Amino acid sequence: MTGKRRIEPALLFNTNSADETFALGERVAGLLSHGSVVALEGALGSGKTQLTKGIASGLGITENITSPTYTIISEYQSSVCRLYHIDAYRLNNDKDFEDIGGTEVINSNGISVIEWSGKILKSLPENTITISIEITGQSSRIIKITGVKEI
Ligand SMILES: Nc1ncnc2c1ncn2[C@@H]1O[C@H](COP(=O)(O)OP(=O)(O)OP(=O)(O)O)[C@@H](O)[C@H]1O
Ligand SMILES: [Mg+2]
Repeated sequence: MTGKRRIEPALLFNTNSADETFALGERVAGLLSHGSVVALEGALGSGKTQLTKGIASGLGITENITSPTYTIISEYQSSVCRLYHIDAYRLNNDKDFEDIGGTEVINSNGISVIEWSGKILKSLPENTITISIEITGQSSRIIKITGVKEI
């Protein structure tokens, strides 16, 4: 034996509208607590920001969530928790992320949701919840969640 390998079960969902993806995000919010990190993967326009809007709503954040493409890290506050919405699209690697203070942010006790997390894989903690979105039609998506047992 060379070591233990953890086989992670994946939860699969189908959504057929932006609203359904939002609703799934609201359910995902129920799994999160201080310090949680959610990594979002999926092509341009797949629904990463849409899912984040649902997560924010589920966390009780009433502010409008906008894409953080230019700000890279946006911060929102509910009465009980802080949400960092991160977009790594314009970063090259983990070093860029470290340089803008990203590592500190995801190791804080806020909740971090990261679009294009593949750019900063080494910065992600081991207990990251990974959600990948696949475009299967104009308004249909397959959404795969790993890192949680049930939802
Ligand atoms: N089932 C669905 N789930 C999510 N979004 C959907 C769905 N069907 C259609 N859409 C549309 O797809 C688009 C998703 O945009 P969104 O900004 O969330 O994508 P993104 O993955 O964040 O893109 P980017 O990589 O540019 O940040 C929206 O216009 C939304 O209305
Ligand atoms: Mg987006």
